[in-house]
Amino acid sequence: LARGAAEPDLAGRHVVISAGGTREPLDPVRFLGNRSSGKQGYALARTAVARGARVTLVSANTALADPAGVDVVRVGTAVQLREAVLKAAADADVVVMAAAVADFRPAVYAGGKIKKKDGQDPAPVALVRNPDVLAEISADRARAGQVVVGFAAETDDVLANGRAKLARKGCDLLVVNEVGEARTFGSEENEAVILASDGSETQVPYGPKEALAEVVWDQVAARL
Ligand code: CTP
Ligand code: CA
Repeated sequence: LARGAAEPDLAGRHVVISAGGTREPLDPVRFLGNRSSGKQGYALARTAVARGARVTLVSANTALADPAGVDVVRVGTAVQLREAVLKAAADADVVVMAAAVADFRPAVYAGGKIKKKDGQDPAPVALVRNPDVLAEISADRARAGQVVVGFAAETDDVLANGRAKLARKGCDLLVVNEVGEARTFGSEENEAVILASDGSETQVPYGPKEALAEVVWDQVAARL
């Protein structure tokens, strides 16, 4: 079915998208964070609205304005992101985990600012694992037929790493960003391949994040 204003292919669907990078606090003024911009997740939100979906955007840290027509839930930590995603996913047709979820958080949160002590080296920061939201959502679908999508950046054997991650996570689609491809002679190339649990692979050429988002929605719509 051709996609267009008359027949938006995500009409009547609730899609949940996580975006941005979580921040894991050490004390009231410091956190462990990452470089995620949130732009891919926000592009997914905008394009899903254009295709007729009701969109809940669970946004960890970004410097981006709320997209029009989207229900935005702001979160800080991975644990908060998990709560918000699970809640929104209860009646969702699609869950897309585009957020950069911190794998670890400080084991101890210092309620007061950590201070230097004269002549002493700092204590090491102990870390503990965060919950794996994508694996949990995939294993325990809130709705039969719910489509679950993950993202990953891989180097070296991108396809083998991506396939292994897709199987480990149990999601339906994994959007794998190829980073550091040897054939580009050291220049940066971001070429995505969408791996599906049915074994299919869809190459997405280098281009704007909206274009990748549209291909993700094509792949999702075909599975709804
Ligand atoms: N993800 C998640 N919860 C986590 C970590 C990751 O839901 N605690 C999700 C991400 O949002 C992404 C996918 O899992 O959609 C893959 O993230 P990635 O960091 O590549 O996977 P990891 O299992 O953390 O593997 P790695 O050790 O390579 O970081
Ligand atoms: Ca990780």
